Amino acid sequence: MTFHHIRKAVFPVAGLGTRFLPVTKDIPKEMMPLIDRPLIHHGVDEAVASGCNDIIFVTGTGKETIFQYFQHSPELEAHLTETGKEELAEQLRKIPELADFHYTLQEKPLGLGHAVLCAEEFCKDDYFGLLLPDDVMLAEPTVLAQLESVRERYSGSVLSLEEVDKDDTSRYGIVDAEEVEPGVFRVKGLVEKPDPKDAPSNLAIMGRYVLSPSVFKHLKSIKRGSGGEYQLTDAIASMLEEEPVYALLYKGRRLDCGVREGWIKATIIKALQYPDLREIVINTIEKELNVKI
Ligand code: G1P
Repeated sequence: MTFHHIRKAVFPVAGLGTRFLPVTKDIPKEMMPLIDRPLIHHGVDEAVASGCNDIIFVTGTGKETIFQYFQHSPELEAHLTETGKEELAEQLRKIPELADFHYTLQEKPLGLGHAVLCAEEFCKDDYFGLLLPDDVMLAEPTVLAQLESVRERYSGSVLSLEEVDKDDTSRYGIVDAEEVEPGVFRVKGLVEKPDPKDAPSNLAIMGRYVLSPSVFKHLKSIKRGSGGEYQLTDAIASMLEEEPVYALLYKGRRLDCGVREGWIKATIIKALQYPDLREIVINTIEKELNVKI
C-alpha cells in the first residue's frame, strides 16, 4: 500500500491568551510578531513546508485579524507597487497563496480536545497534522515531517515529545511509553498535567501531532478532564485501546512564544539568525550592559 502524506493541518487559535495579557486583550496571541511576521505565519510556513495545502483554523471571537492576515490586501499591494516597493508587494501577495485556508468557530473555550473536534468536518477522512501555534519550532526537517517519517515506518498517530524536568510535568501531557528505537516510543498511556509524584515519566507532549481521524470518535466520548476542559490527551488515551500511538523525541528547538519570557527569548534567538539584525542585537546588548560579547 502506498503511503499518503498528510495534506491538512489544524491550528487551534481560539485561546484567550491570558498568559500574555494585557497585550493579548485586543491582539490575538497568534498575531504577536516574531521579527516581521506573526506567530501563526511561522506555524503555517512549517505546515506548508511539511506538505500541507489545507490549513484549518479553529477560531474564536475577536480573532478576525487572523482571517484578514491570510487574505489579499488589494489597496496596500497596489500602493506598494505604485511606490516602487514591488518586492514587498510580492511578499504580501504570496501570503494568501500559501495554502487553502478554512475557518471553523469554536463557540466556547472548552479545551484543546473540544477545539480539535471542531475541525472534524475537514479532517474526518485521513490523518492530519495539529500544530499549537504558541510553539515556534526551529527544525530541519520540520517536526511535522519528522513525525510523518515515524508514521510511515510504524503507522498510527504520532506525538512530539521533549524530556522535561520532573517538577514541570504538571504543565504538559505526559506519556508512559516504551522505546522501540532510539527516540521513537510506542505509547502505552497518557495523562494530562499530572503532579510530579503521579507522572509516569518525564516525557512531555509538545505542540505538534499527527493524528488518526479516529480521534474524533474518542473526542466525542470523553468527559471533562484536567482543568474542567475536554482534553485531547484523554481522547488519545482512549484511542490507544483500539489503535497504536507512537511518539518521537524530535530533533530541533522549541521557542515557546505564548508567554513573555519565552517570546523575548525567541525574538533574540530568531534575530540572531538574520544577518541584518544579528549585529544590531549584539551591539545593543554590548552598549546597554557595557560588556563585550
Ligand atoms: C496542551 C496539551 C498538553 C501539551 C501542551 C503542549 O496543553 O493539552 O497535553 O503538553 O499543549 O504545549 P496547554 O499548553 O494548552 O495547556
